[in-house]
Order: sequence, then structure tokens, then C-alpha cells
Amino acid sequence: MKFIPALSNMVPYEPGRPLELVMREFGLEHVVKLASNEFPLPPFDEVKQAIVEALDDLNRYPDGHSTDLRAALAAQFGRTPEQVAVGSGSCELLMLLGDVLLEKGDEVVFADPSFVVYSDICLRHEAKAVTVPLVDHTHDLEAMTAAVTPRTRMVIVCNPNNPTGTYVPVADVARLVESVPGDVLVVIDEAYNEFVTAADSQGALALQAAHDNVIVLRTFSKIYGLCGLRVGYGLCSPELRGALDKVRQPFNVNRLAQTAALEALKHGDQVAERRRFNAELRAYLVERLAAAGRATVPSEANFMLVDTRDLCRPQDEVCGALLALGAIVRDGNALGCPGWARVSVGTREEVDFFLEKLASLAAPDEGGSS
Ligand SMILES: Cc1ncc(COP(=O)(O)O)c(C=O)c1O
Repeated sequence: MKFIPALSNMVPYEPGRPLELVMREFGLEHVVKLASNEFPLPPFDEVKQAIVEALDDLNRYPDGHSTDLRAALAAQFGRTPEQVAVGSGSCELLMLLGDVLLEKGDEVVFADPSFVVYSDICLRHEAKAVTVPLVDHTHDLEAMTAAVTPRTRMVIVCNPNNPTGTYVPVADVARLVESVPGDVLVVIDEAYNEFVTAADSQGALALQAAHDNVIVLRTFSKIYGLCGLRVGYGLCSPELRGALDKVRQPFNVNRLAQTAALEALKHGDQVAERRRFNAELRAYLVERLAAAGRATVPSEANFMLVDTRDLCRPQDEVCGALLALGAIVRDGNALGCPGWARVSVGTREEVDFFLEKLASLAAPDEGGSS
């Protein structure tokens, strides 16, 4: 077979280890997964009910235009349905953006480290990833603006940033938007937006409304607890939405995903409750780690970087050791943050379990290693 040349530089995406596999491999009865920035609670009850009711229609293809979902999102955000794109997760929308914007030799500016899919898109299209190092774990938006050249097709701002959890004020993103040429698309990836407690958390929406070269990406995967169904959305110009529509697969958002997302949107009160829940546990995790003398990076998301550089073992073994104890977290070495672990905020019980296992690594004689 003669594969496309781009393939030789690509590697499959490596997700966090599934819970069941870890239990089996290490013979553990209790495992907590804090590795994939998932929400620790199930979807809303009303959403589960709507999914059950939709099961009987699975012999029919879904609405290929996701009409009701796009109309509901448009109503929620004061847009027309032509300004709403939906995808099989916001990941699909990111990939479709690559399909409609990138050719060999084009440039995409984004932070380093940031969400791994951004470089995958570049590799796929043989575009150049122009990466701009984070400063204090945070986007350097001035340097990103300065990195734009006539070949730049996209600038991606991940806010809060994955894997660091840091948040940049929307006023700073606005300066970037106003400084780049109008034919460069600014992608504001807000996969974790619903967790943000900063006062300007909804600011990117107005920025997008005022600029056709901005797309805001969000997802039902995180706070809504629907990552297993795959549905995300983008608010953008009708022109860009029309372009994305040409390259997506015919029924890209499945029937259960459309049903679930549509129902989930009706429960803003539960979203607010989950935001409070996450913020409280995030603060608790920071506090307990600080009390143990351990640093964290200030996060506005449902995960954070935890400093593990002092642990008395080779750094790349820290997360492996935690895994063997049943606490699955993400090794920062693989995410461009050597010396740190990326830990998702779980329930209180899950957070306590992780803290106990981490403490046992720090002081193996005292903590025991179960
Ligand atoms: C920054 C960022 N963007 C986008 C996504 C994609 O989410 P999904 O495809 O599940 O909507 C993720 C998932 O972890 C993410 O971290």
C-alpha cells in the first residue's frame, strides 16, 4: 500500500488507561481514574432518561444537520443556526478546521505545551506547527501574535490550557485577535470553559460575535459528563460553518449524542452546581497538597499540574508507581511538563484516595503501599 507521506510522522493518540484494564493488570479492587479530565459524575438524570427514550429510534439515521441541537445552541448563545457547527466531539471540529484551512507548508501558531491534537492536525496536512513556549505555564499571547507570518492560517488559544489548566483573560485574547490579519482564523478552544470561575468566563463569545475570523469551540464532554457520546460545537461565521459542513461525514453526530446534548442544555442550574462542586474540590486538592509542601499550577479547569519532582524515584516512574497503587493520573513527561503530574479533579473520595497514594510514595515507610 502507498500511504500518504504525512503518515510517516504521525503516531496514534495515546489516551489515559481505562479503569477496567488497570484493575485487571494490577489485580486491584479499587482504582480511581484522574487521568483524562473527565467529570467524575454521570450525566444529568434527565439526560439519561432522554437517552433511554431515544433507544427505540436507533434503527434510523440521526438528523444529518443536527437541526434541533444547532437551533438550541443558537438560541442559547444569541446566534443563528448557520453560526453553529457541531461535531463528534470538539476534536472532530478541530480536525475539520485543518481540512478546510491547511495545505502543505502553511503555519499554525499555538502554545507549547498545549492540547496534543493541534500538532496532529499540522502533521496530517504537512503544515508547520509554530509553537510558542508557555511562560509560567501560561500562554504568551504577545509572542504568539509576533509568531504570525504571511503563511499563518490559524492561531489556537487553548483557554484554560490543557495540560496546565492556566487561564488567560479574554481582554488579552482580544488584543491578539485585533493584531492578527483578518484572514487568519483564531481558534479559542474552550473545552473547559464551564469550569472557569473568572468573571470574564463568557467574554470569548462577544469577541467571536464581533470577529468573523474567530471560532469558539466548546464541548459536552467535560462538565456535562457526556464524553462517551462524543459531541462538541463551535460558534463561528456562517462562511466557516458552511466550509466545515462540506468536509464532515454525513451523520457526524450520532442520534443519542444529539438527544443528550439537547436535553443537557436545558439544565444550566445543574451546570452551575457542577462548576461549584469542581471549584470546591479543586481548592481542596490545592490546599491538601500545599499542606504537604507540594506545589500546583493555579488552574481554572477540572485538572491541575502537581509538582512531583521531589519524589525519591526517577521522575518517569512516579505516575507508573501511582498506577500500580490504583491512582491513574497523567504523566507530565508525556505532555511536555516534565516533573509534573496532570491530575483531574475527582469526587472527594477519589481525591482523598489519590492524596493517600501520593503520600505513600513521598514517604514509603510511613504511608504504606497497599
Ligand atoms: C483542550 C481540549 N480541546 C478539545 C478537547 C476535545 O474534547 P472532545 O472531542 O471530547 O469534545 C479536549 C479533550 O480533552 C481538550 O482537552
